[in-house]
Amino acid sequence: MERTFLMVKPDGVQRGVIGDIVARFERKGFQLVGAKLMRVSRELAEQHYAEHKERPFFGELVEFITSGPVFAMVWEGENVIATARQMMGKTNPQEALPGTIRGDFGLTVGKNIIHGSDSKESAAREIQLFFKEEELVSYNKLMNEWIY
Ligand code: TYD
Ligand code: MG
Repeated sequence: MERTFLMVKPDGVQRGVIGDIVARFERKGFQLVGAKLMRVSRELAEQHYAEHKERPFFGELVEFITSGPVFAMVWEGENVIATARQMMGKTNPQEALPGTIRGDFGLTVGKNIIHGSDSKESAAREIQLFFKEEELVSYNKLMNEWIY
């Protein structure tokens, strides 16, 4: 089953929307297989956002993601990578539709509430950057019979 890495960013944690965000993915039918509240070190932030190293916003992005606790999660389910990106909305909250996480909670691109992997490759890379294998729990959810 497909897995993705999602992370409530420091603004989302400070604004108290972890529960709302978790609830959206639960209600959709996805299964939580790992989660932790943590601080992101500068080294981890630079690895996680390595693809943006040359971009003008890289410095601010690293400052922001290391500025307070984040809530890191791994979610599992059919097509979870693309569906979670849809549920997050566009990168810039000004363009994200109402009903999406960024559309509902965010105002500016610099503080856009949530991160989500954008492909199978980045999901695999980000999951192993943030989680040890033993921190991820596979289990049968009885409700899945009513989803698939
Ligand atoms: P990106 O990977 O393009 O977006 P997404 O988070 O939707 O995958 O960019 C990573 C983060 O960098 C983004 O969530 C917010 C920040 N960012 C800026 O601050 N300014 C920008 O112009 C862009 C494109 C991103
Ligand atoms: Mg991205």
